[in-house]
Amino acid sequence: MTGRGDLCVAVERVSKKFSRSLKRSFVYGAWDIARALLRSGESATLRASEFWAVQDVSFTLRRGQSIGVIGPNGSGKTTLMRMIAGVLRPTLGAIRVQGRIAPMLALGAGFKPVLSGRENVFLNLSLLGVSDRDIRARFDAIVEFAELAEAIDAPLGTYSSGMLARLGFACAVHTDPQILIVDEVLSVGDAKFRTKCRNRINQLRKAGTAMLLVSHSAILIQALCDECLYLKRGLIAARGTPDETLGAYESDIVQNLAVGNAARVAGCSGEASEAGHSKARILEVRFTAREASGAGIWLTGKPGEMILSVGCTSPVNDISLNVIITDLTHHAGETVQFMTSHRDIGWVRLDPGRPELRVSFPAVGLRPGTYRVKISLSQGLMHDILDVLDDARVIVRDAGSGGNGLYYQPREWTITGGTVTEMPTVPATSELEAVEEL
Ligand SMILES: Nc1ncnc2c1ncn2[C@@H]1O[C@H](COP(=O)(O)OP(=O)(O)O)[C@@H](O)[C@H]1O
Ligand SMILES: [Mg+2]
Repeated sequence: MTGRGDLCVAVERVSKKFSRSLKRSFVYGAWDIARALLRSGESATLRASEFWAVQDVSFTLRRGQSIGVIGPNGSGKTTLMRMIAGVLRPTLGAIRVQGRIAPMLALGAGFKPVLSGRENVFLNLSLLGVSDRDIRARFDAIVEFAELAEAIDAPLGTYSSGMLARLGFACAVHTDPQILIVDEVLSVGDAKFRTKCRNRINQLRKAGTAMLLVSHSAILIQALCDECLYLKRGLIAARGTPDETLGAYESDIVQNLAVGNAARVAGCSGEASEAGHSKARILEVRFTAREASGAGIWLTGKPGEMILSVGCTSPVNDISLNVIITDLTHHAGETVQFMTSHRDIGWVRLDPGRPELRVSFPAVGLRPGTYRVKISLSQGLMHDILDVLDDARVIVRDAGSGGNGLYYQPREWTITGGTVTEMPTVPATSELEAVEEL
């Protein structure tokens, strides 16, 4: 149903190289200008200290379409967005844009701190190509949307980051954009303002505005995008529906973590045997869910297990398995679970060989996110530590019932004097979450 006229952005084999050294980048810059003057084109090869921040990226964005962009820090997402917004020039390849772009690239980018809010609105919108008359006509709506009536004549330097974000967003959405670029700016501001932003984005999308959304929030990407790109070291590592691409991204993370975990287990056991008291060593830890979710992943509200393999050369008594789970996503480093087997079930005696300790949860109570798991095997009431695995990771995904509460509450619903019709579509909770995440 999309014709040629619907094309908003065409990115064709775009690459961008940077230099890690400022001094060299000046020298190279001079060379590149000279080369451009001689019309010999840009160099596709890397010189010392240069690297590709974006490499051979191609995709198209059409009217009404929303594409999400995910990837670890430094993978080139912002560089790509800046090239599309016309702030940076690609080293190789071409970008064609049809229609007005409203870029929301970074907090207050393009704002001048010494000017007042009012002056910045005029400056910002005229740079985006809005006429003076149109700016005047929209000014009040912008100030109202940003909730900055009182502060609009104060210098921007006095604004808080939340106020800057509100002004930036208000300006961007009041330019009648055909293309909206949102680069990780939706997590600022309070919940009420984020809801307002979300609704405004939906309004623009219904009117046909296309969107590029860079976000670390899987929920937001799932709720707002039709397609998703996963950038890894400047390359497109995966693309497809948000679900497919997020899945590829997550399994990449889990694989890297698995390697990390294995390495740490080896490190731990090495130390223990050197110390000469390797009565019980942690050989391996696995996190599994009954549902097919992949290794290293639990699903909120669904059964989950942690399985620990231990190596023992002789029988050991009075063993306790201790587990500390800390939250890396919501409140970095906060302990959310602490469990110890000797309090739950009493002392464990391990037989020689490769005994297994398994802790099962009927319903995982952790909300979606990434968690650090510290596991120790201790002996006796003084908890002499026999072995520690300090930095295992488990990823918890939403299974539709997760929600954004502090934890999952196992529950049953009963309706008396009424009936229930099952909802076949997207779970209602993801809508709520998207609003919250925004
Ligand atoms: N102007 C620049 N000069 C040199 N290196 C840069 C510049 N801008 C970004 N980089 C580097 O390019 C890589 C990609 O950065 P960026 O696009 O900001 O990644 P992301 O937005 O995915 O976190 C990083 O290694 C970053 O340090
Ligand atoms: Mg970035």
